[in-house]
Amino acid sequence: MPLVTSTEMFKKAYEGGYAIGAFNVNNMEIVQGITEAARDLDAPLILQVSKGARAYANHTYLIKLVEAAVIECPNVPIVLHLDHGPDFETCKSCIDGGFTSVMIDASGKPFDENIEITRKVVEYAHDHGVVVEAELGTLAGIEDEVNVSAEDSSYTRPEEVEEFVSRTGCDSLAIAIGTSHGAFKFKPGTKPQLRFDVLEEVSRRLPGFPIVLHGSSSVPQEFVEKINQFGGNMPGAIGVPEDQLRHAAELSVCKINIDSDLRLAMTACIREHFAHNPGDFAPRQYLKPARQAIKDMVAHKLINVLGCDHKI
Ligand code: G3H
Ligand code: 13P
Ligand code: ZN
Repeated sequence: MPLVTSTEMFKKAYEGGYAIGAFNVNNMEIVQGITEAARDLDAPLILQVSKGARAYANHTYLIKLVEAAVIECPNVPIVLHLDHGPDFETCKSCIDGGFTSVMIDASGKPFDENIEITRKVVEYAHDHGVVVEAELGTLAGIEDEVNVSAEDSSYTRPEEVEEFVSRTGCDSLAIAIGTSHGAFKFKPGTKPQLRFDVLEEVSRRLPGFPIVLHGSSSVPQEFVEKINQFGGNMPGAIGVPEDQLRHAAELSVCKINIDSDLRLAMTACIREHFAHNPGDFAPRQYLKPARQAIKDMVAHKLINVLGCDHKI
């Protein structure tokens, strides 16, 4: 089937108490690992592309890789989404270039400016059959070249969401409830805890409206340990507990963003491969197990965290 928008996907996910996985793609092996897991498990899927990924791999290469996945996985509904669109021009370029969904991330701007930019993107996107994710509240961590410190991050203010959604016309809303980008989300020794009270108040004010969680990697400790064991240096890497993400998916969260866990799975596998096979130098030798590691990790997420397996 051709690329789809997330409209139907989110409606079913909201009603069914599960979430769609939105995984970041940067190259062929990542696209293959993710889409093969979704194909084997009959799971709907969002593939998302950041500004950095477009700069790295080139828009056309990424589009063609995703088109190849669409052909190879004919049973899987796939959304092609722009992650953290920084401005109208980037969103327009993706809308004109075949994406079915874009995020405009003006969450760092004042409320009225965020509304103005988001509204402009929504008007253009909807005229072209494309849906729009917007963001209210600021996550800590690193995305592209933007680094937000924990002190500068802020939870979404539920009292702002109705006005924001009605004035912008956005199709889904990313909120800040304690997740953050990257592999170091919580201080070692503290108990990671998402603000479900904020999520529930947002949902009460926006009944039936799809909510998005960014920064939702769980940073599996087996990958961190492997990376550290085989020459890496990531002490104290901690993610969002899987059971809290599962709970969020049962509530109004319909899209859960995962990138760091893909990076960890791939890096742990490649580091281990070279430790055991120091003479290898052909990319296929280490990229093949790395692709499999991504597939296994994504399959685990689809079943145990998102609950979206067999939902096609
Ligand atoms: O939210 C950020 C994603 O992990 C994308 O990261 O901008 O380095 O591609 P990137
Ligand atoms: P992680 O860094 O937790 O994987 O978050 C990814 C993300 O939010 C992409 O937009
Ligand atoms: Zn994000």
